[in-house]
Amino acid sequence: MALDDIPRTRPTPPGVTPPAQPLPYFHALWKLIDNPIEAWPKAVYEEPFFERGRFLYAADPAMLKDILLDRMGAFPKDWMFDRVTKPALGEGLLTAQGEHWRWQRRAAAPGFRPDNVAAMTPAMVAAAEAALGRWREMGEGARLDIATEMTAITFEVILDTMLSGGEGIDVPQAARKITDYLETLGGINVADLLQWPTWTRVAMAPRGHRAMVYLKAMVDRMVARRRNQPPRGDLVDLLMQAQDPETGQRMDDALLRDNLLTFIGAGHETTALALTWALYLLSVDPGTAERVRAEIAAVAGDETIGNGHVERLAFTRQVVQEAMRLYPSLPLMSRMCAEDTEAGGHPVKAGTFVFIPIYALHRHRRLWRDPDVFDPDRWGPEESAGRHRFAYLPFGGGPRVCIGQTFAMIEAVAVLATLVRGARLDHDPGHRIRPVMRVSMRPQGGMPMTLRLRE
Ligand code: HEM
Repeated sequence: MALDDIPRTRPTPPGVTPPAQPLPYFHALWKLIDNPIEAWPKAVYEEPFFERGRFLYAADPAMLKDILLDRMGAFPKDWMFDRVTKPALGEGLLTAQGEHWRWQRRAAAPGFRPDNVAAMTPAMVAAAEAALGRWREMGEGARLDIATEMTAITFEVILDTMLSGGEGIDVPQAARKITDYLETLGGINVADLLQWPTWTRVAMAPRGHRAMVYLKAMVDRMVARRRNQPPRGDLVDLLMQAQDPETGQRMDDALLRDNLLTFIGAGHETTALALTWALYLLSVDPGTAERVRAEIAAVAGDETIGNGHVERLAFTRQVVQEAMRLYPSLPLMSRMCAEDTEAGGHPVKAGTFVFIPIYALHRHRRLWRDPDVFDPDRWGPEESAGRHRFAYLPFGGGPRVCIGQTFAMIEAVAVLATLVRGARLDHDPGHRIRPVMRVSMRPQGGMPMTLRLRE
């Protein structure tokens, strides 16, 4: 059947029900630890911005453009972000500010040029094929946690593409340590909210601390090995050789480690979640799943997916875009207003904590037709044409936009296409979907699915 002949379904998948009014203080405080997105009041989804004391939720694209681009100097990353990320990621690309950020961004940029990333497609497809191979061995009807499966695929991809296979890394152990870290020290905890000294947050999460020490030592060993080996042309070499054109500065071992941990951390869990949510959405929308399969058959036939196919899998890409609209891997970004200024014509005082509620922005009543409906067709050329660039921010925006954006999109499309062609995954209807925010947005309790194999 041709793509356009397949009936369209447009389901409304589960999401957060926002409170009609802001929550009382202690309830809000508890929600900040339990699941911050459930604390955002309805107004955040309906008004251009919502202000309470020194907190501003910005959901107006013009305001967001000022915060992230036109007046970004007045809106640096905030102290809470530093508290949570710097113990693990030091002064690397994600965490550094000002000139120290700028030269690192210039140094890493060539590794993410579209032609370089396109050349990595075979490694991405190979990781998806390997997962399919494992699934075939498990057999028809096997129960899988798709969230874990996707993390295994994207972790393999990041090691293969950025770190030349990450030789010497005990992959299962490293993956466990990353999970340990993310589940404990990776998010905001009570010590952060009450602004206790930073050592207290570490003391409250010994498992997370041990994981962080393990991961740092693992990357240190890799850096030491690579300093004594001939170059291989991967990201590790690129960063080792990078030199600030103005100061002549190079990355020392500590900064190299900060950056490699940043790429490992920022570069796989986010993409795994985009894939997890996309596979969930396809499982509840058989019409869309059918259209994706029809597109893959038309574009690639029986050939292994390659970059030439990925470029032409337009509808599959729209499914990924729509999955990241409804369930953005990072549902919240934040900034601190450093000087009295304005954003979107609204005055903002120095010291204001600025929330960029990506999850609510992507479901905003003023910005989207049928905001809660899964409808990949909204990403077709006509409907996309009039959309404000800052209405959709899964990768952030402005100069600090995600450096891995192209990488993640190619990976998500290539992996999704490979998996959808080899298997159908049925969501377990008894498993309630609750998106919870732990910095990233994960399905609570994972994503259990039943495997149906295809020939
Ligand atoms: C679906 C997948 C991904 C999502 C949703 C995502 C999302 C984001 C967002 C929202 C930011 C901006 C944070 C801010 O401004 O506060 C960001 C920055 C960043 N991302 Fe991603 N990301 C993804 C994949 C990747 C990949 C694959 C890599 C690397 C291999 C990566 C590396 C980074 C780095 C290094 C930064 C900091 C950039 C800078 O400040 O200059 N990300 N990402």
